Amino acid sequence: MSKSISGFSKLSKRGKLRWIVENFFKDPENVMRELTSYWLLNEEQQKVLDGFSENTISNFYLPFGVAPNFVINDKTYAVPMVIEESSVVAAASAAAKFWMTRGGFKAKVISTKKVGQVHFCWTGDFKKLESVFEILKARLISDAAEITKNMEARGGGILDIQLINYTEVEPNYYQLKANFETCDSMGANFINSVLESFGKSLQSFVATNDLFTDEEKDVSIIMAILSNYTPECIVRAWVECPIEDLGNFSNGIDANTFAKKFYTAVRIAHIDQYRATTHNKGIFNGIDAVVLATGNDFRAIESCGHTYAARDGNYRSLSHCRIDNGVFKFWLDIPLAVGTVGGLTKLHPIARRSLELLGSPNAEELMMIIATTGLAQNFAALRSLVTTGIQKGHMKMHLINILNHMEATTKEKELAEVHFEKEVISFNAVRAFLDSLRTKKGSGATRLLNR
Ligand code: MEV
Repeated sequence: MSKSISGFSKLSKRGKLRWIVENFFKDPENVMRELTSYWLLNEEQQKVLDGFSENTISNFYLPFGVAPNFVINDKTYAVPMVIEESSVVAAASAAAKFWMTRGGFKAKVISTKKVGQVHFCWTGDFKKLESVFEILKARLISDAAEITKNMEARGGGILDIQLINYTEVEPNYYQLKANFETCDSMGANFINSVLESFGKSLQSFVATNDLFTDEEKDVSIIMAILSNYTPECIVRAWVECPIEDLGNFSNGIDANTFAKKFYTAVRIAHIDQYRATTHNKGIFNGIDAVVLATGNDFRAIESCGHTYAARDGNYRSLSHCRIDNGVFKFWLDIPLAVGTVGGLTKLHPIARRSLELLGSPNAEELMMIIATTGLAQNFAALRSLVTTGIQKGHMKMHLINILNHMEATTKEKELAEVHFEKEVISFNAVRAFLDSLRTKKGSGATRLLNR
């Protein structure tokens, strides 16, 4: 089936939805009703959401949950999390509670630099450009003054600019690479505007400078864009306690055995890429959920985190574990370029509430909260993996999802939960169990169901 349209974006929202349902669904009226039922009743709020993106036809809902009891640097937070995967919020909450009685989490921001690049091609003499680079730099900065004025007033701005010669790997290719401080904003718009100004200034500087011959006057700007890789915008979150304070774990595992297994699990994620990927995925379960809840850009955070995890040439765990003189230490270093002003942070009604719930943190405090949630998530996942195995908790949630899917009643759910304590959970097994309940008329089970 190939159905195309020109002028789709010009249709009204209802018009777009109608075209979609009539062309792609077997049951257009029902789908139309269903998708419009997810529109917000408050038209003003709906307009705000529609304004974030293009061609919207409805809203796609995700659960908005909270993990309470996060003690970070002696302050207690209830952390907002937006995530569709079951068990993640429960795991974060359990880890928060576990560490609450063991000194809590600690976190500190190590650095906050953002990065941007102007990529350009030029056939001139590099030595000449290098010789006037300090003058060029001053010009780039002064030409961008109008854009940087407000950021400077807030304590940020351009930190430094480098000229990089890449001609050994790509003929005629150079780069202006700049570092920025963007204070409480993620800074994408600010950085991109400054970089575009740099590009224009560079072209006019070279075109009007007598040092360069006519053949050298033309600079071709390939692109000017921020880099989402910010290895100097780093936050560390950590926990530590004497091993004996870890207590005992399920399956009769004592604190010492737990610490050793946990340490080895983290080591494995430093050695083996297959494990490292899943291990870091668990960290991002926590990180992305808070990033989303606070209206930040989770794609930027993910791509940066994965590049950072591979910074020595091998993809490795983002978290680390050490056992020193009987003390268990577990920490995470991660680049997190997030904002608490600008972007969606204040525009999205729930992102705004998330930030309020966190006590209206600045960007550095939010970095610490997000990193801590990632570490907590990782701790919870590894704790399950090296003790009971992950499936125990997961399958319980899976059972609830299957029961909801099969529209089980509250009583059926209670009976199923008891039954599947000892049975293997699968879609078919749950269906068979519900069928047996529903057909055994007059049995004890049905009497219970009818209550
Ligand atoms: C599942 O979403 C995440 C885990 O697989 C992470 C891990 O294995 O460390 C449980």
